[in-house]
Amino acid sequence: MTRSDGYLLDNQQDEAGQRFDAFATLFDPTTFRHIERFGIGPGWRCWEVGAGGASVVSWLAKKVGPTGRVVATDIDTSWAASAARPPVEVRVHDVGTEEPPGEGFDLVHARLVLVHVPDRERALQSMVKALRPGGRLLVEDADPALQPLLCPDEYGPEQQLANRLRNGFRSLLAERGADLAYGRKLPRLLRQAGLRGVEAEAYFPVASPACDALESATIRQIRDQLVTAGLATHQDIDRHLANVATGSMDLATAPMISAWGRKG
Ligand SMILES: C[S@@+](CC[C@H](N)C(=O)[O-])C[C@H]1O[C@@H](n2cnc3c(N)ncnc32)[C@H](O)[C@@H]1O
Repeated sequence: MTRSDGYLLDNQQDEAGQRFDAFATLFDPTTFRHIERFGIGPGWRCWEVGAGGASVVSWLAKKVGPTGRVVATDIDTSWAASAARPPVEVRVHDVGTEEPPGEGFDLVHARLVLVHVPDRERALQSMVKALRPGGRLLVEDADPALQPLLCPDEYGPEQQLANRLRNGFRSLLAERGADLAYGRKLPRLLRQAGLRGVEAEAYFPVASPACDALESATIRQIRDQLVTAGLATHQDIDRHLANVATGSMDLATAPMISAWGRKG
């Protein structure tokens, strides 16, 4: 199977599980609110794209029940695998290069995935193709260029260091082909893909223990890459991790743009 290469944050590392837990705490309430509004219920057929961990998949499974179907795909299914029991089917799948894993879905959802996929356009087309007429697409993606700071309140050297390292993280993502202004484009891209009733909104936390956990896991995961690229020293990273561990840095995330629409 051909896989899109270039994904910076490999799911094989221990920190990936901590990152997925933090995403669940930070973003599941927003995601679930949107999907509830679509009217999800027993019998729905859902495709969860780039599932990552098990939280969204397990929630969908409860909503659709035994008469429904949840297909959870990812290039690396190590963390979603724990949810693999009916109605959930977990499959290794690259949304940027492969045909959809089925058709006639009532809901297709991808969160924080497309920004990392080199052929985002093809991925989006594939997701729309997989919907039944009237089916809903929900795409949620970051827009780090809209709010680039890890510490929006940059009042001292700890916060300056945090924002410098965040800048380094963004450089690594951009080098791997991530579109750092992707989130804002979603409403236009969904309309161009032929969807109707397109709407979008943004959410980001400004201070939360889950932001600290996410930052700590992310920095530990990309430490070597930051150092190798000359974007930070090991001392910078140790100091930053100690600052984050105080729990008083008021760390934010990039805005997550949620955009949704209906197939004609
Ligand atoms: C930042 S994580 C988000 C995980 C999950 N959607 C969430 O919101 O918690 C990105 C996920 O996308 C997956 N991914 C990256 N490129 C992909 C591709 N081309 N096709 C499918 N999944 C991909 C990664 O393996 C990872 O699990």
